[in-house]
Amino acid sequence: MNSASLFLLRSLGAAGSVEGSSFWLPAPASTLAGKVDWLFNAISLIALLFLLLIATLMGLFVWRYRARPGRPAEPAPSHNTPLEIAWSAIPLAIVCWIFWEGFQGFLELHTPPQNAYEVLVSGQKWKWLFTYPNGVVDENLHVPVSTPVRLVLSSEDVIHSFFVPDFRIKRDAVPGRFTKAWFEAPRPGEHRVYCAEYCGTSHSDMTAKVIVHPEGEFQRWLDSAADLLDRMPPAEAGAKLFVQRGCKQCHSVDGTGGIGPTLKGIFGHEQVLRDGGRARVDEDYLRESILDPQAKVVAGYDPVMPTFKGRIKDREIVALIEYVKTLR
Ligand code: CUA
Repeated sequence: MNSASLFLLRSLGAAGSVEGSSFWLPAPASTLAGKVDWLFNAISLIALLFLLLIATLMGLFVWRYRARPGRPAEPAPSHNTPLEIAWSAIPLAIVCWIFWEGFQGFLELHTPPQNAYEVLVSGQKWKWLFTYPNGVVDENLHVPVSTPVRLVLSSEDVIHSFFVPDFRIKRDAVPGRFTKAWFEAPRPGEHRVYCAEYCGTSHSDMTAKVIVHPEGEFQRWLDSAADLLDRMPPAEAGAKLFVQRGCKQCHSVDGTGGIGPTLKGIFGHEQVLRDGGRARVDEDYLRESILDPQAKVVAGYDPVMPTFKGRIKDREIVALIEYVKTLR
């Protein structure tokens, strides 16, 4: 058995483990996913049928009318009106039908229901951040089950593309512009978010989760996320914020390298800077590095961190600083 058919068999086997998935599509998990799949499968089937029809006829004709000794070529008939009308009209009708079905689906995917719950999505190198109506920011998209959710997408730097294969939605996040997408998840569960537009070194790490909460649980999650700073000591809240705000995408806390320098054991120590200078890591340095990351970039790293100015509260900065102090 060759490697291609082995691969195909493996994908079939792997896909079979998730209910409702096929060998080329993940299990549909939004209200519109079924329609997208149906049209995709219909177009693929039509294309396959025409491929077989045309390739078979071509092979047949090549064989049947091949040059043979004693059989001189006959002049080809120049015209067959009924045949030409048929092979023009039938494909035309098929593509008109495909357009109509596709256009209807396009409109549905672009028209969120009036009562949709709104979440702001921000793409930046290299993470997604989700802002909820009460001001909570999280690295994952939490949504209530069976509720239409409207996403308003924007980008802090370059073009990213918000892609949730299970929901069959993909929309660009463009700097200086807002784009929109929506979905409704009928079942609780977890799904992967990808970035589908190459945006630099860690493009492939630019993932997040969609967590579809069962009835009632979403509000509980939102409330508990909102009073993070009231519920726990600053250092503990800082540890949570470090994950929620996506800091850990670039900064490790165990001494390993990353897009940005590790934060393990830096507090109180001197850092060599990119411009050859030196800086002692204290509260002021950390605060400046969060609000104006390009001011003092550590040697060996690129100035790629986006600013958090206007997007983080003072109390949150204090909590993050307290957390960094614990990373001895
Ligand atoms: Cu963001 Cu690719």
